[in-house]
Amino acid sequence: MPLTFPIEAINVVSEIGATQTVASDRPVRSDDLELLGVERPYLDASGFTGKVGETTLLPNGTNLVIAVGLGDSELTVSEVRRVSASLWKAATKVKSLSSTVAMVAAQTMGAEKALQAVIEGMLLASYRFDEHKGMTEDPSFLENVVIVAPDGVDASKALDRGLSVARAIALARDLVNHPGGSMTAIGMAGEAEKVASETGLEIEIWNRERLEEEKCGGILGVNAGSTEEPRLIRMTYRPLGESRATIHLVGKGITFDTGGLNLKSFEGMETMKIDMGGAAAVIGAMSALSSLAPDVTVVGTCCCTDNQPGPNATKPGDVLKIRNGKTVEVLNTDAEGRLVLADGLSIAAEEAPDLIVDLATLTGACMVALGNEYAGLMGNDAGAVARVESASSAANEKMWHLPLPKEYRKQLDSPIADLRNIGTGRLGGALTAGLFLKEFAGNTPWVHLDIAGPVTTEETTGESSKGATGFGVRTLLELAVSW
Ligand code: BES
Ligand code: MN
Ligand code: ZN
Repeated sequence: MPLTFPIEAINVVSEIGATQTVASDRPVRSDDLELLGVERPYLDASGFTGKVGETTLLPNGTNLVIAVGLGDSELTVSEVRRVSASLWKAATKVKSLSSTVAMVAAQTMGAEKALQAVIEGMLLASYRFDEHKGMTEDPSFLENVVIVAPDGVDASKALDRGLSVARAIALARDLVNHPGGSMTAIGMAGEAEKVASETGLEIEIWNRERLEEEKCGGILGVNAGSTEEPRLIRMTYRPLGESRATIHLVGKGITFDTGGLNLKSFEGMETMKIDMGGAAAVIGAMSALSSLAPDVTVVGTCCCTDNQPGPNATKPGDVLKIRNGKTVEVLNTDAEGRLVLADGLSIAAEEAPDLIVDLATLTGACMVALGNEYAGLMGNDAGAVARVESASSAANEKMWHLPLPKEYRKQLDSPIADLRNIGTGRLGGALTAGLFLKEFAGNTPWVHLDIAGPVTTEETTGESSKGATGFGVRTLLELAVSW
């Protein structure tokens, strides 16, 4: 998959060089305008208000000056990314851009963080998924980006980190944006293998035979109606020095969710190539660990298969035996994510890591509750929940803590098996799904992220473009780096 961005070169310099400056931006403070040869009345007349990320183009002799708003309070890291994304967009008609935003941001967050944020924002704003597009559109392409940063900053480190994080998010987006017909479980495993060979991660892939030996009855049960093979992908990052903790990530990797025999409607099925967004976030995050080098061990397990209604498909009323020995009466084949995650969580729990985090596009109910921008967060341990919440706020990925009410657990009681795979009514569907997963995390601190809403977006704005968002990658990386 192409993971290059339409930017040919990024140079970090410590002073604006006159010859390199074709387009230049400055924080719009009245005292700076003169320096850029911009007259205040022009700026006012353009309607510019200075909101974070707002841009306006102004002439200065043969140069174009991009005025970019920085708001009126201290910039946060995510605001710097947004500002930088706006700059890239404002500059797509020119071939070269020079920016001093990192200079301003460095004053509050340090030069390296500022530089990294400028790089990430710019690269992600340039992300697009155009593999299947004709060449009719004029691709915007920047030949040269010059970032002015304070003297003495470790520019290559910031560049490397910014590039790794942007590539990790772009990888997660690419995996999700790819059609379900081509991004199968085998395809996902192939992409994960590429990541592992590029970054030196350990990787193990389980095929159907191995999944049978390993008693992964959930994944096999969901896969039963498909002609595509399932895959369980397991990637491991180990720090060079001593490891301070182990985090085990588990991703739902349903490469296409037809609903199975409980077939989805036309409207319900249309977007279901996105149902491997949890696994995509895990693979994306794993891909950046070697260059961010946190001193914790991270294991990523992705449970991949499509969910199809073929002749051998699991039927409503069938009973599956999950890896940890619990049995599940499948009353709705469209509640398949929890079945594959049950195997993944069982594997993670066996190894008793310090924390398990699963990510899954699990329920429409979570979208009804929280809308498109917030992930639902549930967990069995207050400390674990607090850790993930603080990582998510540092990453600027919105999540809302939902309960796992004991009172609802009885909705999952089955007369013939240990559990049913759906609650008895339609209400509280995100919570009964969370309660189901809880049965497989054992006593290990565990957090479940239902990312059905934020996995995609309708809007092209700031760092994101219509389609997959790569949601979750940043929180997972923050979690590892800040442990
Ligand atoms: N993959 C879907 C959830 C989903 C829906 C994600 C819409 C993104 C957008 C999941 O497998 C599913 O079908 N869930 C059912 C559960 C129900 C049968 C208990 C749902 O939410 O309707
Ligand atoms: Mn489903
Ligand atoms: Zn699904």
